[in-house]
Amino acid sequence: MYEIKEKQTLAPNIYSMQIYAPRVAASAKPGQFVIVITDKYAERIPLTISDYDVAQGTVRIVVQASGQSTKKLCALEEGDKIQDFVGPLGRESEFMHLNDEELKAERFLFVAGGVGTAPVYPQAKYLHNRGAHVDIISGAKNKEFTILEDELRAVCDNLYLATDDGSLGFKGLVTDKIVDLIDNEHKDYTQCISIGPMIMMKFVAMTTKKYNLKTIVSLNPIMVDGTGMCGACRVRVGDVTKFACVDGPEFDGHLVDFDSALSRQRQFSDANLDNYITAKK
Ligand code: NAD
Ligand code: FES
Repeated sequence: MYEIKEKQTLAPNIYSMQIYAPRVAASAKPGQFVIVITDKYAERIPLTISDYDVAQGTVRIVVQASGQSTKKLCALEEGDKIQDFVGPLGRESEFMHLNDEELKAERFLFVAGGVGTAPVYPQAKYLHNRGAHVDIISGAKNKEFTILEDELRAVCDNLYLATDDGSLGFKGLVTDKIVDLIDNEHKDYTQCISIGPMIMMKFVAMTTKKYNLKTIVSLNPIMVDGTGMCGACRVRVGDVTKFACVDGPEFDGHLVDFDSALSRQRQFSDANLDNYITAKK
C-alpha cells in the first residue's frame, strides 16, 4: 500500500498528491509514467510523473477528477493509502541522453496544456539544472485553471502563460503563442516538447512542422497492463505500430497519426461506453 503524504488542490477538480513510493522515486526519470490502482475494484490510471524526491521517497502525481476512477482517487485524503502504484514505466525523455555540451547548444520550447502542464515540471527542472535554455508556454482555459505557475517559473528562462479567455497572460491558444514567439519575437528554438490534451498536441505538431521545428509529444492513450502485452495503447508513428507504454510515451510529433489516436481515445469515452452497454442490453 502507498500512502498519500500530501494533497493539494491546484484548480477546480485538479489535485496534486505526493505518494510515498521510495522504490519508484529512486528510479524515476523525466518523461516516465506510473499506473495507479486505487483499490481492488478500481481501473488502472496511467499518469505521467509530475515530480519525484529520492530523499523523501515520494512521487508527485497530478490528477483531474473526470471519470469514475479518477474521482475515486481524488476523493482520497492525506494519510489514505493507494493499493498499487506501478512504475516507473515507459522510456525516459530523449534529451536525457545528451551530454552537457549538447544540452547547452539546445533551446527547448515546452508547450503544455491544462493538466499536462504538471509533467512538464520535472523535465524543465532537469534541463534548467543542466544549463539548457528552457522556455515554457503553459495554456489553460482561464486563470482559475492555470496550475504550477511559480514552480514552472523557477525552472525556466521564460514562462509564457496563455488562457483561452485572456484572464491571465496571452489571450489565445498555445499554438497562437508559438507563432507569436517565432514570428514576432524571432525565437530560434531547436526543439519543442509538448504535453497536454491529444487534440492540442496534434495542432502543436502541425504548427511546428511549418517551422521545421523538431517536436516531441507525450502520448496518453488508453492503457491496460502498461507492459506491452495487451495492445490497448497502440499508436501509429510513421508507418509503424508502437505501444505507448513501452516504446513511448514520447514520440516524434510530426510522425504520430493523431487522427487514429484521437478516434481510439473517443471509443472509450464515457458516452460511447454507455451507448455500447445500452446496445448490448
Ligand atoms: P484544456 O482542454 O483546457 O486545454 C488546455 C490548453 O490546450 C488550452 O488552453 C489551449 O491553449 C490548448 N488547446 C486545447 N485544444 C487545442 C487545439 N485544438 N488547438 C490548439 N491548442 C489547443 O485542457 P485540459 O482540460 O486540462 O486537458 C485535459 C486532457 O489532458 C485530458 O484529456 C488528459 O488526458 C490530458 N493529459 C495529457 C497528459 C499527457 O501526458 N499527454 C497529461 C495530463 C493530462
Ligand atoms: Fe497494454 Fe501498452 S498498455 S500494450
